[in-house]
Parts: sequence; structure tokens; C-alpha cells
Amino acid sequence: MPELDLKTLPRHVAIIMDGNGRWAKQKLRGRVFGHKQGAGSVREVVTCCRRLGIPYLTLYAFSKENWNRPEAEIRALWGLLDRFLKSELPDLVSKEIRLIHIGDTEDIPPYVLKQLRSTEEITRNYDKMTINLALNYGGRQEIVRAAKLFAGDILSGRIGTGEISPELFSSYLYTSGCPDPDLVIRTGGEIRVSNFLLWQLAYAELYFSELLWPDFHEENFIEALKEFQRRERRFGRTGEQIKSVILGI
Ligand code: FPP
Repeated sequence: MPELDLKTLPRHVAIIMDGNGRWAKQKLRGRVFGHKQGAGSVREVVTCCRRLGIPYLTLYAFSKENWNRPEAEIRALWGLLDRFLKSELPDLVSKEIRLIHIGDTEDIPPYVLKQLRSTEEITRNYDKMTINLALNYGGRQEIVRAAKLFAGDILSGRIGTGEISPELFSSYLYTSGCPDPDLVIRTGGEIRVSNFLLWQLAYAELYFSELLWPDFHEENFIEALKEFQRRERRFGRTGEQIKSVILGI
């Protein structure tokens, strides 16, 4: 088995953590049990990224569409996220990891929002790694929000229409200042992006795993990184062009 090449790791990995419910069902347990177990996989992946020096990790923890779930599950998920933020804070501090919320703040239960804001505040100066926690997040909603803010700045004259560019537009997204994901991982066997980082994943490598999220452990994450390293990222160029850039000819 080839070793992981520490020099060509992705800078930003984004993960759709799917399959908690099915994992619990297989074990004849309630869905919330699956989410609790899923928090363990989150810890493993965060620890692994920090150890390898991957500076950005984005986790899709609660989507706009998740509001359609049974009310009891929604309540339990927010409770779990709140407890997770509290329990992981010492670890974020000791590992100097910054946590940033991406997503809409309205509708997030106030007690969770308070915890989120305080975690963001406490960790804001850490630069060893950044976790973007996507909560109440939707990719289309993010783009529309950015377009509104952008239009506001154009109408007020702060920005001239000649300045409109993809780079400037990106700075209105929640992920402003963060490089686009190089690798997106989705567990749980579904092959779709489900309204996740629609703008940002334009050139991302996509990796789909049949494993349910609670069964996705460090070795599976490493396997995804190795697969990423086997891919040739061309960004619209030909394979020959890429080789000549690498060889400097
Ligand atoms: C998808 O599984 C998972 C979620 C909707 C929530 C993700 C939440 C966690 C992993 C809990 C902990 C997270 C953090 C950041 C502490 P699903 O319920 O859609 O599974 P299914 O497709 O089998 O129904």
C-alpha cells in the first residue's frame, strides 16, 4: 500500500457526514443513537487533520433540509451539537483550532447560537487549523445571501460594476478568506452533493464512501486522502500541460 504523501495533502477537506440514522437502525436503536456515535467519527477526523497539518475542515452537520425531520430528532440533534461544542472546547483550545459557523443564524435555537458564538470568540485567534461547522446551511441560500449583500454594495456605490468578479463575489460567502475545498467526502453511499458548498466545490475532487458515518474511522479518512493523491487535478488544462508545469519545462 503506498504511503500518504505529506507534501501533497489537500488544504481543505469538506465532509457530508451521512448515514447516522441507518447505522442506528441496523443496530435496532433510535436515530439519535447514530448521531451520538457519529460525533466519535467527527473527533477522529478532526484529530487526524490536525496531526497531518490539513489546515481547513468543513463539516456538514445540519442542513436547511434537515428541518424536515421529525421534531424530536431535530431537538435531539441541536442538544447533541450544543453538548459537543461544550465538551470539545478544551480540545479546540489545547490544539489551537479555530471554529467558525457557516450557515444562517436565524432558526438556530438561541442556546446553541450562544454556545456557537462563544466558541467562535474563544477560538478566534487560533491558526493551527480551522473547522467550518455548517449548521442551518444551504449552498443556494448562501449564494443568494451573498448576491443580496453584493448588490447592496453595488447600489450604494461602494463597488463599481467593473469590479464584479468571481473572486470578489466569493468574499461575500460565509467561507470568505478560506480556500475552496480540494476534496469533498460523502459517506453513506449516496452520490450527490445535497446543496453543500455549491459555489466553492467547483474544482473539488469528489470521494464517495459506502460506509455509514459512524463506521468512518481514521483509516478510512486516510484512504480518501490517498485516493485524492492518485487523482490528476487538471483545472481545465491538459495532462501534458500539468506534467510540464511539474517538471518545469
Ligand atoms: C446524516 O445522517 C447526519 C446528520 C444529519 C447530522 C450529522 C451530525 C453528526 C455527525 C452529529 C455530530 C456532529 C457534530 C459536528 C458534533 P442521517 O441521519 O441523514 O443518516 P441516514 O441517511 O442514515 O438517515
